[in-house]
Amino acid sequence: MKNLINILDLSVEEIDRLIAVADDIMLSPDRYNEACRHKILATLFFEPSTRTRLSFESAMLSLGGNVLGFSEAASSSAVKGESIADTIEVVSGYADIIAMRHPKEGAPIVASDHTTVPIINAGDGGHYHPTQTLTDLMTIHHEMGRFDNLTVGMCGDLKFGRTVHSLIGALSRYTGIKFVLISPEELKLPSFVKQKYIKNKGIEYKQSTSLDEVIGDLDILYMTRVQKERFFNEEEYLRLKDSYILTEDKLSMAKSNMCIMHPLPRVNEISTAVDRDPRACYFKQAHYGKFIRMALILKLLEVEI
Ligand code: NCD
Repeated sequence: MKNLINILDLSVEEIDRLIAVADDIMLSPDRYNEACRHKILATLFFEPSTRTRLSFESAMLSLGGNVLGFSEAASSSAVKGESIADTIEVVSGYADIIAMRHPKEGAPIVASDHTTVPIINAGDGGHYHPTQTLTDLMTIHHEMGRFDNLTVGMCGDLKFGRTVHSLIGALSRYTGIKFVLISPEELKLPSFVKQKYIKNKGIEYKQSTSLDEVIGDLDILYMTRVQKERFFNEEEYLRLKDSYILTEDKLSMAKSNMCIMHPLPRVNEISTAVDRDPRACYFKQAHYGKFIRMALILKLLEVEI
């Protein structure tokens, strides 16, 4: 496997292996700190990012490698009208591996046709975000100890939330998974995800507009931000943005070992008082992002430790 465009580019065994390597890096970081000496990671971010870009850069620096790139389209030749194909053609001559985020769905597939080095999809529009899913899976592995037989609630913007789409795809490969899809009517899970990963696989699911009604059933609650940047209409965003707010009150109806996840950034979906609840896993989740990305870089560059 050369690129990571969709989480299903990795088998479940490869994901287990990445998590095992990430765990080992957390335990013994010194063993890895020269692993990518003289290697260069390019981070091409045509859309804003904090965690994904910085964790990729921190990952490569901690492997002894170097990083270059840009953090907004405005500082690249995209503003002059350069195509993705041309940008990638050129950057693959400057770097050994590329992590790219782009507002257009499918942009990483175009990139993968024009590269000589591995391409990692760091988020393409409202489509997919496979490295967030690796972070999410590592969190589930640590917090729940298994991927099978989990009831997973996805709450918020299921329409534009690319982290939700990729995580559903990944979890659909385990047995005994049940999905509870919690969103306003306007932000329901799109059929390209629902059909392919839930219905065609005969996975049990329930849809609800009410978090209160279903919170008690969940092993995992995956909260998401309403994706402002994907709305055509500001009024519609303002009407929907606070559809769900997780508070301490609501949590009193949840299981005592439910795991609360969020890819972050949080806007208003989780009250800050919830941060003190032992079920809050979202900051740990962000922390794992660096180590699982280190493991991914090692795999794609075929570095053996
Ligand atoms: C997510 C994204 O970019 O899709 N952020 C992230 O990478 N952790 C979620 C979001 O922006 O809401």
